[in-house]
Amino acid sequence: MKTTSLSYSSLFLFLAILSCSSWHAQSHAHDDFLQCLSLHLQNNTEISHIVYTPNNPSYLSILRSSIRNRRFEFASNPRPHVIVTPMYESQIPAIVLCAKENGMQIRTRSGGHDYEGLSYRSKVPYVVLDLVNLSEITIDVEQKTAWVQAGAIIAQLYYKISETSRTLAFPAGACPTVGVGGLFSGGGYGPMLRKFGLAADNIVDARMIDVEGRILDRKSMGKDLFWAIRGGGGASFGIITAWKLKLATVPETLTIFSISQTTNKMQNRARSRDGNTLPPISLMIY
Ligand SMILES: Cc1cc2nc3c(=O)[nH]c(=O)nc-3n(C[C@H](O)[C@H](O)[C@H](O)COP(=O)(O)OP(=O)(O)OC[C@H]3O[C@@H](n4cnc5c(N)ncnc54)[C@H](O)[C@@H]3O)c2cc1C
Ligand SMILES: *[C@@H]1O[C@H](CO)[C@@H](O)[C@H](O)[C@H]1NC(C)=O
Ligand SMILES: *[C@@H]1O[C@H](CO)[C@@H](O)[C@H](O)[C@H]1NC(C)=O
Repeated sequence: MKTTSLSYSSLFLFLAILSCSSWHAQSHAHDDFLQCLSLHLQNNTEISHIVYTPNNPSYLSILRSSIRNRRFEFASNPRPHVIVTPMYESQIPAIVLCAKENGMQIRTRSGGHDYEGLSYRSKVPYVVLDLVNLSEITIDVEQKTAWVQAGAIIAQLYYKISETSRTLAFPAGACPTVGVGGLFSGGGYGPMLRKFGLAADNIVDARMIDVEGRILDRKSMGKDLFWAIRGGGGASFGIITAWKLKLATVPETLTIFSISQTTNKMQNRARSRDGNTLPPISLMIY
C-alpha cells in the first residue's frame, strides 16, 4: 500500500515537472522565434503589431476569428506557439526562415474554411500565418485583370469588382466568406463554372514564397509550379501571397430565376404527357 502511494506521488511530481518543462520549451520556442524575427525584420514596432503569443490577450480571439468548424475551438485542440498576421508580403520570408530555424511548421490561413482545420491545427509545434491583413485588391478595367492578395475573401473580391465595373466579373465560389488563398489553389467552382471554367483556369499570374523564403512570380516559379498551385493546393508548395486574375466580361443586366416544383407535380405532368414517371428533380438556373 505504502509503495503504491509513494509511486503515485512521485508520478504526480514527475508529471508536474514534465508539464513545467514542456511549458518552458514552448515559451523558449516563441522567444527564440521572436528574437529571430527581430533580427530579420529590423523594425520592432512592426513586429509587435503582427505577432501574437499565447500570453497576448488577443491571441485566442485572433485564433478563433476565422475558425468555421466550432469543434476545433475546444481547448483540447492543438494551438500554435505563435500567430503572425503580416501587413506586407516582404515580412513573410523572415517568418518562413525563423519558423524553420526553430523547428516549427507553418500553417497558412486565408479564409479559414478548411473542413479539417488544416490552416490552423497541427500535431507538431507550429506557427499560424494568418493572411487576414493581406487583402488588397486592385483592378485594371482596361486590361480586364485584377490582383487580389491571398487573405481576401471572395465577397471582398466580388464587391470590389462590382464597385469598379458592371460588366466585369470573376468565376469563383458561391459562399462569400471563403478565402481566395484556399479556394483558388484548390480549383474553385461556382455558378459561372459552365461558361467560364474554374477560378484556377482564370488565373494568369501569382506571387508566392517558397521554403527558402524566395518571393516568386509566374516567370520565376516556372511552368510546373504555376500549374501545380492552381488546383494542387497552395500549402503543398509554399505561401501564395497574391493572384492575378483574368476577369470575365458579363452582360450589364443579369436575369436570375428559380422554379420550385414538387416532385409529385412534375411526375404527374410527365405521366400525363407520355405515361412514364420522372425521377425526382431539383432545379436551379443561373
Ligand atoms: C461554407 C463553405 C462553402 C464553400 N463553398 C465553396 C464553393 O462555392 N466553391 C468551392 O470551390 N469551394 C467551396 N468550399 C471549399 C473551399 O474552397 C475550401 O475549403 C478552401 O480550401 C477554403 O479556402 P480558405 O482560404 O477559406 O481556407 P483556409 O482554411 O484558410 O485554407 C485551406 C487550405 O489552403 C491552405 N492555404 C490557405 N491560404 C493559403 C495561401 N495563401 N497559400 C498557401 N496555402 C494556403 C491552408 O493551409 C489549408 O490547407 C466551401 C467551403 C466551406 C466551408
Ligand atoms: C517601423 O514600422 C512602423 C509601423 O509600420 C513605421 O511607422 C515606422 O516608420 C517603421 N520604422 C522604420 C525605421 O522603418
Ligand atoms: C490588421 O491591421 C489593422 C491596421 O491596419 C490592425 O488594426 C488590426 O489589428 C490588424 N489585424 C490583425 C488580426 O492583426
